[in-house]
Amino acid sequence: MSKDTLMPLATLHAQVPKEVKIVEVGPRDGLQNELSVSTADKVALINQLSATGLRHIETGSFVSPKWVPQMADSAEVFQQINRVSGITYAALTPNMKGLALAIEAGADEIAVFASASEGFSQHNINCSIAESLKRFEPVIHHAREYGIAVRGYLSCVTDCPYDGPTLPAQTARIAQTLFNMGCYEISLGDTIGKATPLRFAAMLEACMEDMPVQTLAVHCHNTWGQALANIYQSLLMGVSTIDASVAGLGGCPYAPGASGNVATEDVVYLCEQSGISTGIDLMKLAEAGAAICRRLGKQPNSNAALALLAARYK
Ligand code: HMG
Ligand code: MG
Repeated sequence: MSKDTLMPLATLHAQVPKEVKIVEVGPRDGLQNELSVSTADKVALINQLSATGLRHIETGSFVSPKWVPQMADSAEVFQQINRVSGITYAALTPNMKGLALAIEAGADEIAVFASASEGFSQHNINCSIAESLKRFEPVIHHAREYGIAVRGYLSCVTDCPYDGPTLPAQTARIAQTLFNMGCYEISLGDTIGKATPLRFAAMLEACMEDMPVQTLAVHCHNTWGQALANIYQSLLMGVSTIDASVAGLGGCPYAPGASGNVATEDVVYLCEQSGISTGIDLMKLAEAGAAICRRLGKQPNSNAALALLAARYK
């Protein structure tokens, strides 16, 4: 059956969005986990992604180079990319120092990142959840005064590599706190990719009790192969912002065993085939993923990209 004859998913389920925003996190979440990627290769990837129809590209992070040396050249990356009007080039900032560097580099948007579990908070940003929220207060305040929108990440929303399962009510409480502090959107991260749809839905349901679904995004790592299933579940519940990483690159250096994010190519294929518009050219995206993977000496971790590229070269 051709795509044109399919009934859009939104016709079957009223809550399903007709279009989604994809937040491309490959240049940050993807490359923070790869050793020795040159600045030129990062810039080439972002420039190629900028021509795919993506509207939001996480370009780097201004974190301590002692903690994540892979992101130490984020200022140079911001300086060297060819910015395309209409695209938001965003950066992660854990503290005021990161914010100052992000502003200097010309980031369009910043993101603070907290954890729903104490263990990951300590390991990832060296402080408790409460201390991190206190630390974010001036970051959010000054960014907003400067006219820079702030996204909030919440990690380990269902499972933590150090503390085990996270209760949905705990995730919902911190998500709402970040929202009330001034984050316009909360990205709910299954950092170790362990959730399955029913548990993911319970977590989302808890968050949606107090927050509008339009303010929630999902950020699914694919360690256990459940990311697309959790994203499909999220779409059924009305979520319309999805984080993804081209070629399935990624992971977090402080989440042992966690693999890459869901591949952007797979999300685009799922959405477009379900009648949900992404605005993204899948072939251009697959080519961008293949190009960075050639530089990294690996295959794209995306079934859709591999199938599409194989079909083209038949
Ligand atoms: P700390 O050691 O407690 O902080 O780290 P500190 O204030 O004592 O600083 C230590 C050194 O780093 C100092 O340098 C600071 O100046 C410097 P020294 O005086 O020793 O030469 N420093 C900085 N340099 C540049 N930019 C900065 C900065 N801050 C301090 N912003 C800190 C605390 C938060 C800084 C550290 O733990 C850190 O940088 N952590 C970041 C870890 C990280 O990036 N993890 C990956 C991103 S999160 C993720 O991937 C999850 C996500 O994808 C969602 C999901 O999947 O769930 C978002
Ligand atoms: Mg992540």
